[in-house]
Amino acid sequence: MKLIKHLKRCIAASAVALAAISMSPGTAMAQSDPTGPSTKVVGGTRATQGEFPFMVRLSMGCGGALYTKDIVLTAAHCVDGSGPNTSITATAGNVDLQSTSAIKVKSTRVLQAPGYNGTGKDWALIKLAKPIDLPTLKIATTSAYDNGTFDIAGWGANREGGSQQRYLLKAKVPFIDDATCKASGGSYGGLIAAEELCAGVRQGGVDTCQGDSGGPMFRKDNAGAWIQVGIVSWGEGCARAGKPGVYTQVSHFATAIQTAAGQLR
Ligand code: ARG
Repeated sequence: MKLIKHLKRCIAASAVALAAISMSPGTAMAQSDPTGPSTKVVGGTRATQGEFPFMVRLSMGCGGALYTKDIVLTAAHCVDGSGPNTSITATAGNVDLQSTSAIKVKSTRVLQAPGYNGTGKDWALIKLAKPIDLPTLKIATTSAYDNGTFDIAGWGANREGGSQQRYLLKAKVPFIDDATCKASGGSYGGLIAAEELCAGVRQGGVDTCQGDSGGPMFRKDNAGAWIQVGIVSWGEGCARAGKPGVYTQVSHFATAIQTAAGQLR
């Protein structure tokens, strides 16, 4: 039901063929073979336990990051709106979603970006029933880090049309400037340069994909600490040549996110 709604939203938002562009979260989780030939996200490898301790998997089939110990930053298109909500389970603390030591906490409230209408402003906060004692991921408050090479991670599909992953996968993607991104054809012409940040490998093969939405795109700051610069938002297919991943530009919304988090306490 949610999937259909999101697909409809996507169709409304663009003239692109169904399934080509999608903002729908991933659906049911499938298993990957832990011993198999390095199960790749799109072009990724396994994250090691504890490498990205702030990573969260959300039960509607999205990713997220711990903004505080009891607030998860995710994508607006991953949630249904704002208000009390006890239906979401956040899983954290283990790269293996099926690990018995994974921490699971329910949501209590959701705050979707004010003014979100399916285009841009793709961020939301989820308040948790109790704090999770893991490192948080600080967000970029200036555009200083909106460049370079970014890290991406998630339990989403490992190829376009592929299944959700049991083990957290990671990859690196270079920054793509707004003009180049906007010139990528199709939906990219509608890129909202101030609110969205593009990244991807020109020749394709490495990207986030369905089910990674809401998860962070991040890098190291000048002090060597992780800093979140993006939120997985959309793309035409996954890892296609000349079709970058589009991410919410966190620095643009940093003040709004801080204000919203204050309202959740
Ligand atoms: N909208 C997708 C989701 O809900 C994420 C798509 C990212 N696509 C991409 N090509 N980078 O999971």
